Amino acid sequence: MSLCLSGKFLFNKIKQMQIALSQQLREGTKKSHTMAENTGFISCFLKGVVEKSSYGKLLTDLYFVYSAMEEQIERLSAEGHPIISSINFKELYRKSALENDLRFYFGPDWESVIEISKSAQVYVERINQVALDQPELLIGHHYSRYIGDLSGGQLLKKITQKALNLKTEEGLSFYIFKDVNDEKDFKKSYRERINSLEIKQEMADMIVEEANKAFKYNMNMFKELEGSLILAIGKVLFGYVTKNIKKGSTE
Ligand code: HEM
Repeated sequence: MSLCLSGKFLFNKIKQMQIALSQQLREGTKKSHTMAENTGFISCFLKGVVEKSSYGKLLTDLYFVYSAMEEQIERLSAEGHPIISSINFKELYRKSALENDLRFYFGPDWESVIEISKSAQVYVERINQVALDQPELLIGHHYSRYIGDLSGGQLLKKITQKALNLKTEEGLSFYIFKDVNDEKDFKKSYRERINSLEIKQEMADMIVEEANKAFKYNMNMFKELEGSLILAIGKVLFGYVTKNIKKGSTE
């Protein structure tokens, strides 16, 4: 009897996470990260080949994605969901920053002008669905977007400013986290927070899988944006800029 009990105890212990969730997420999404960085739209972006119309479309899609994510996280936190409340970092919220940018690019009537793309709609539906069925999986979406924004965001801010010839920081709110003093420190405490969550290995695997799905949804959005970028810059330049595959930033 006592042997049987200690066996069960051991079994449950083994089922707990052996490797920190932050590390599993980083390792488990490396390939997806490299693939995302090598999509045509992002390759062009990184080389400063970006123009106002497709950039406006990107911000529009992101506005719908962050609105859904932040609405679901607020709702679950208000309901007292223990895991989701722990990742409800309000200083990361992007919805109002994106509203500022959309007003800048589309004017005061931005709300009646913008339209979500098909791929962003699918992404939003997934966020809403996991928030209802298995809220813990939202960690995969939260990590992929916000930690990505904190990591590559500063570089993208500089590129956008130069490419769109912006004289001030107007139109760049998306990249500005005014309530985060030090991005590196913040990422460290974020990792500590998610590593402290009571999550079994089985769930951690599902969260990493969901994070990879989040990358895929982002890549689909970029793919759809390629169409309007090619229209703006032409097929030849697009082909030239995207011909080389680059090593990923997290490899
Ligand atoms: C636009 C091109 C991109 C650039 C230049 C870029 C750049 C970077 C850099 C420099 C890091 C830091 C690596 C490190 O700390 O060792 C990073 C990390 C990260 N990026 Fe990106 N990234 C890009 C696109 C994306 C996209 C599209 C996503 C997801 C939607 C994403 C999500 C992440 C995540 C989640 C991390 C954190 C990895 C970790 O756990 O340490 N990135 N990125």
